[in-house]
Amino acid sequence: MRRGILLTALGGMLVAGALAACAEEGGSGETGGDDTPLIGVILPDSASSVRWETADRRFLEQAFEAAGVEYDIQNAEGDRNQFQTIADQMITNGVDVLMIVNLDSGTGKRVLDQAAAQGVATIDYDRLTLGGNAAYYVSFDNVAVGRLQGEGLVQCLTEQGVEEPMVAYLNGSPTDNNAALFREGYDSVLSPLFASGEYVKGPEDDVPDWDGAQAATIFEQQMTQVDDEIDGVLAANDTLGNAAITVLRRLGLNGTVPVTGQDATVQGLQNILLGDQCMTVYKAVRLEAEAAAELAIALARGERPATDQSVTDPETGEQVPAVLLEPVAIFRDNVQDVIDDGFVTVEELCADDFADVCAENGIS
Ligand code: BGC
Repeated sequence: MRRGILLTALGGMLVAGALAACAEEGGSGETGGDDTPLIGVILPDSASSVRWETADRRFLEQAFEAAGVEYDIQNAEGDRNQFQTIADQMITNGVDVLMIVNLDSGTGKRVLDQAAAQGVATIDYDRLTLGGNAAYYVSFDNVAVGRLQGEGLVQCLTEQGVEEPMVAYLNGSPTDNNAALFREGYDSVLSPLFASGEYVKGPEDDVPDWDGAQAATIFEQQMTQVDDEIDGVLAANDTLGNAAITVLRRLGLNGTVPVTGQDATVQGLQNILLGDQCMTVYKAVRLEAEAAAELAIALARGERPATDQSVTDPETGEQVPAVLLEPVAIFRDNVQDVIDDGFVTVEELCADDFADVCAENGIS
């Protein structure tokens, strides 16, 4: 079971061997040579999810270091102007490849178009930029992420034994294509249950920019709308899940109303161990970063390796070559898997007040 995570995730990966080959060619730690590729990465923010700074930056750095390429990783901190400024600087500084996590497709597309006009190859990292024409899209199977959330919530509601539970949706940002894919996944599980009358559809809202503070306000309003009748919350990531949990704690309903999440953040995993969060979705970002780094290095060398998968850009109708990794559902009984995969450390998860909860749950 423990090994399951790695194997499933690796199963979706392309040419793992090619990365090793790149690493050898790149030499160890050599920098500055004329042929050494320079790769620019723009991360979106550090508030919508801690993953960008705690996981993506770390694993991208490791992958670039291992391959001996130069890199510049910057974070736009949710600021669209800053995103554009960073892109301008990176293009001026002569990046060979620009990898972005867009803040929305419009501003992302502007940057990708500009890069293309300057002969800079581009990769959409994690989020597809609609109409952006990036050379590659590297992400997870995001509909599958949503499906795991929907199935997870059903599992927890069944365990709670609530009849005809009312489920509320806290969707991700309306400007993030992934949020639509996650919703497609969880709604494919839940809407048949609403249709059959087994479940009741509660309030549904999108959370602008995946903002936790707004999510808390929105969830409070959702509760008020239905006289606190919500029995389960489909929250699209751990940030939104924690916002709902904070409100539920205030109402004394935490632990009785299951809440979902995504990203296997320390906070999300702690909420799971406390019994306040039903589940999260673990995405092995190390594999995502490695796949993206491998493709970036190939592009910088003027190569364009084929991928096994592709997605259709709904705006252009074009196929975008893609690497889509498999997500894994995490409940209380397999939190340890996330530690064993090196994504979070037992020290972070079990710090201070959480030492006892970890011990109770056999986390080590
Ligand atoms: C990512 C999620 C993340 C969310 C907010 C999505 O595009 O796939 O992992 O939680 O953005 O940053």
